[in-house]
Amino acid sequence: MPVSHPTVHVINHLDRDYLRQSLERDVTTGLTSSPKWLPPKWFYDAAGSELFSRITRLPEYYPTRRELAILRARAADLAASSGADTLVELGSGTSEKTVLLLDALAAAGTLRAYTPVDVDAVTLASAAQRLAGRFPGLALRAVCADFERHLALLPRTGRRMVAFLGGTIGNLEPAARAVFLKELRATLRPGDTFLLGADLVKDTGRLVAAYDDAAGVTAAFNRNVLRVINRELDADFVPQAFEHVALYDARHDWIEMLLRASRDMRVRVGGLGLVVDFAEGEEMRTEISAKFRPEGLREELEAAGFNVCRRYTDPAGDFTLILAEA
Ligand SMILES: C[S@@+](CC[C@H](N)C(=O)[O-])C[C@H]1O[C@@H](n2cnc3c(N)ncnc32)[C@H](O)[C@@H]1O
Repeated sequence: MPVSHPTVHVINHLDRDYLRQSLERDVTTGLTSSPKWLPPKWFYDAAGSELFSRITRLPEYYPTRRELAILRARAADLAASSGADTLVELGSGTSEKTVLLLDALAAAGTLRAYTPVDVDAVTLASAAQRLAGRFPGLALRAVCADFERHLALLPRTGRRMVAFLGGTIGNLEPAARAVFLKELRATLRPGDTFLLGADLVKDTGRLVAAYDDAAGVTAAFNRNVLRVINRELDADFVPQAFEHVALYDARHDWIEMLLRASRDMRVRVGGLGLVVDFAEGEEMRTEISAKFRPEGLREELEAAGFNVCRRYTDPAGDFTLILAEA
């Protein structure tokens, strides 16, 4: 369904019916499972994206700064080695870091098109609008879509670099990650490349602090999923009655974000006709954020049919950017 916008055209694969049905399905499945869980994509309404933006500027949240440092040092090299004229970005959010890649592709003289892809239509449209002002002449085709479902619908023209930054790949469980990588690989043609930003395994204290900041911004982000469900599905969660918890699971190499019920509660989800009981202390998982080891990441990419051609790490060894070809 096309959505008109003053200068930027947003292609929307997530119309209200689709969103409603997938939210209903996820909430029904997650809240009736034991233990309960919710998928992280529902954090991101406009308020959730704004909270995420604030997280990226927190002193504890090193990944954005590290990825930016790699991009500053290597964007020109990435532009030259990819030879891309079209940048497609999955989970683009505010596209803040992307400007470095766009600048490098423009300096290389190849840049023609940018396709940001995100579930949050509001943030997507405003990011695309901002970039349209900064890169006049750039073919901007913003796509509101779910990268776990709509990869096959993304535009395939040009020599593409598909960027997946911010460590968002870590939000997928290993099995879902393998499916995602294979599906993405199937959409690429010879000459296309995949640019992946991933967070690396490190000291547990720093990892946990990055997901449990002193100012409580991550806690507000975590509780935002309850506000989304209250609004969209007529539920009566009391967000403040859930405590934000971040743990590192060293067995799986991932951070878990949880919401812990501070008392016994009965929650009604009017839109689903669902009544859900929480016991005091009960924990509901809202996100995993997997941390990677360079060799493991290479193996996952190769298993999906990618060939790693460039791998960069920031000087502190915190974060990695990988350019792979199909
Ligand atoms: C961790 S943020 C990263 C944002 C940005 N790429 C960065 O590096 O700062 C994840 C982004 O992916 C989007 N997102 C999450 N799940 C998605 C999905 N299934 N399909 C499309 N976008 C998704 C969110 O709306 C959000 O903008």
